Formats: sequence, C-alpha cells, structure tokens
Amino acid sequence: MDSILVRGNGELRGQIPIAGAKNACLTLMPATLLSDEPLTLTNAPRLSDIRTMTQLLQSLGAEVASLQGGQVLALSSHAISNHTADYDIVRKMRASILVLGPMLARDGHAVVSLPGGCAIGARPVDLHLKALEAMGAELDLRDGYIHAKAPSGGLRGARIVFPIVSVGATENALMAATLAKGTTVLENAAREPEIVDLARCLRRMGAQIEGEGTSILTIEGVDRLGGATHPVVTDRIELGTYMLAPAICGGEVELLGGRIELVGAFCEKLDAAGISVSETERGLKVSRRNGRVTAVDVTTEPFPGFPTDLQAQMMALLCTAEGTSVLEEKIFENRFMHAPELIRMGARIDVHGGTATVTGVDRLRGAPVMATDLRASVSLILAGLAAEGETVVSRVYHLDRGYERVEEKLRACGAQIERISG
Ligand code: UD1
Repeated sequence: MDSILVRGNGELRGQIPIAGAKNACLTLMPATLLSDEPLTLTNAPRLSDIRTMTQLLQSLGAEVASLQGGQVLALSSHAISNHTADYDIVRKMRASILVLGPMLARDGHAVVSLPGGCAIGARPVDLHLKALEAMGAELDLRDGYIHAKAPSGGLRGARIVFPIVSVGATENALMAATLAKGTTVLENAAREPEIVDLARCLRRMGAQIEGEGTSILTIEGVDRLGGATHPVVTDRIELGTYMLAPAICGGEVELLGGRIELVGAFCEKLDAAGISVSETERGLKVSRRNGRVTAVDVTTEPFPGFPTDLQAQMMALLCTAEGTSVLEEKIFENRFMHAPELIRMGARIDVHGGTATVTGVDRLRGAPVMATDLRASVSLILAGLAAEGETVVSRVYHLDRGYERVEEKLRACGAQIERISG
C-alpha cells in the first residue's frame, strides 16, 4: 500500500489546474444506460473511482473507452446485456447504486447489490428506493441485493417529496424519471452543481427537465433518449481543497478553472478566517491576508451551504488558527475520523457527537498518520504541508479515489511531497 511523505517547508506559489468533478462524472457515466446511442464525456477526471464505475458499466454490457489519457470517456450502451450489478464491484464504491434508476427505467428490471463506500456513517439507500417505489417499482431486498421491477407499462411519473436532501437519491430519481410515463416532480431535491450538470447532460440527450439548481425538479418523461457530448463540471471539492493549500502554508496559488459560484459558502468562511480569494481570467487566486489565520465556526449543509466534503480539510486549516473554532457536521455521522490523526500532529481537538471544537496551536508537528477516508486523507496532507518535520500518510488508496496527481499538483507550487510505493 502506497504512502505519501510530506515535509512542511513554507509558502506555496504557482498554479494548479482543477479537474472535472468526480461526483458529477460518477452520475453522468450511468446515464449512458438510458440510451442506445453514444454518450461522450469530456473533462473527465482520472481517478480510481472512475475506473470502478467503468468496470461496473462494462459488466452490464456497456462499452466504455477511455481516450486522451482518460480525459474523454466514450460510452455506449446498445443493449444492457446483464442487469445485475455485482457485490464485488458495488462494495468498492457507493455511487454504484446510480445504475439502478437508469436500468429500471430503460428495461424495467435491475438487480443491484447494496453498496459499500467510505466508512463515514451508516449511509442508507432508503431514499433512492422510496423514490423508485413511488414511480411504481416493486422492490425486494434479499441476499444483500435490491431486486427491482417496473410495472408492465414501465415506470410512472410521480410527485416525490424527499424528507431530507440527498444528492444520490435525487440523481437516481432524476435519471429514472426521464423515461417514465408522465410528469415527475422531485421536491426538496438536491441543488448541488453536480445535479445541475446531470440535468444539463440529460437535456442534451433529449430529456425534458426544468428547475435544476432549485429544490423542485420537474421532469416530463420521454419515450427515448439519444446521444450527447457533455463536458464534466469543475470539481468544486478539489478546488476547495487546493484553495486551502496557500491558506495553510502561506504564499499565493491560482486555481485554474475555479469559479466562485461553485464554492460560495466556503469562500465566505475563508474570508472570515483571513484568506483572500480573487477572480482571475483563468480561475481563482488565493492568499493569506495577514500572518495567522483567525478561527471560524463551520456547519456543513447541503449546497449552497458549506460542503461536508470540505470539512476535514477546513479543520486542518483551523488547527493552526488564532482562537477556537466549532465545526458541526450535519450531513454524516462519524465524519471526524481525521481528528485523532490531526491530534497526533499536535492539534487540539475535542469531538462530541457531531461537533468538533478546535483550539488553534502555533504549529503542527509531522507524524506518521493514517488515512481513513477520501477527504480525511487529503486533510492530513494539507496539515503535513504546514507542519514542522515529516508527515507520512499511509493507506492513501483512499486519496487515489478522488484526487488525480496530487503530488504533482502540489510539487508544482513548491511543496515537498512524494509517494512511497509499497
Ligand atoms: C454525495 C457525494 C458525497 C457527499 C454527499 C453529500 C457522490 C458520489 N458522493 O454522496 O461525496 O459527501 O453527496 O454532499 O456524489 N441518506 C439517507 N438515505 C438515503 C440516502 C442518503 O438517509 O437513501 C442520508 C445520508 O446518510 C446522509 C444524507 O442523506 O446523511 C445525505 O447523503 P447523500 O446526499 O445521499 O450523499 P451521497 O449521494 O451518498
């Protein structure tokens, strides 16, 4: 298992290109199952999660070609030859559940293993299932698999009110609704940029969708969808993560392709902490306004609120802030697994349930630490960049699920970071 070695060595200066969004790509790829015509995705990120989704779609009979070094994905699904998403693939990645809605909508039946994924809480899929049931699907959970069947005339449009905002359930229901008979209205739908991106891609394929980016999505079902070429939206989580690098280390970094509207709530918190963010022709420029960062309180929320996927990285910043910050995690329980590792590096953090209180220290110290999930692993790298001495982050396979060429991107700005194979 590879590790990452980081040496804290001062300011970072340079440019970092931001890739297409992992979470958008993972929902755009299954959209191929809705049509027998080709779907081409450009600006795709090169990540292990994308390779896992590729394997899953191929196991269902789709063709997936990775072109231009992985930045273009040419997908085609003339026919779904196998309707079972196997446990062996699904357990690696929770987003695998996103093949359920499309298969059910196109062919009227699907069998999908219950998912695994990051160890950040229970993360059920009940909302996905309830939405599909409301559209007429019959579901049977047995042997760890969801066995789903549409009524004889296919899925029917329905009014679905989500009790809590769920990105994945909104995506599954949205894709299924594009081919359902009649109108579907999704209320309390997720508003994340990845949902907007999915809606735009589906519209390019011929779907009739209104309201993306708001909490009410209205979908008029059509008989069939066609092909499309679609660029994947910029990864706002990768963007936010690298914005924190100069915030933590000092210096100035330009994030190529970054846009404020993707990270609005996050930028407000950075501003309050004393970090300046300005728009440039090519993206966003980030630097620290004064010497030390100021403590800020953060509560995670669905978009447009502060994203849970940036909470761990923000905590790394606040570990050396002046004063005490309170971080409240409202989306996932058990999402402070980076806290004990940061404490090993000298951070002062108290966790009580979904609240972490961080009292800033002057300097973190390098230590051997362990990555526990995708965002936790990158938070430890950020902390290591600001720490005195060497930090070795082990179990970085989590990192490779969501960050492409992380060492290369940070090294280009002067960071001392290298991968140790083994
Ligand atoms: C997606 C993102 C993930 C991000 C999360 C929240 C992808 C591939 N992953 O995950 O990186 O952290 O959004 O922004 O896009 N819930 C239920 N029942 C369900 C579904 C969800 O109770 O059927 C709960 C979850 O446990 C969680 C909350 O709803 O507490 C939000 O989860 P959700 O938005 O569905 O997250 P994902 O789509 O899994």
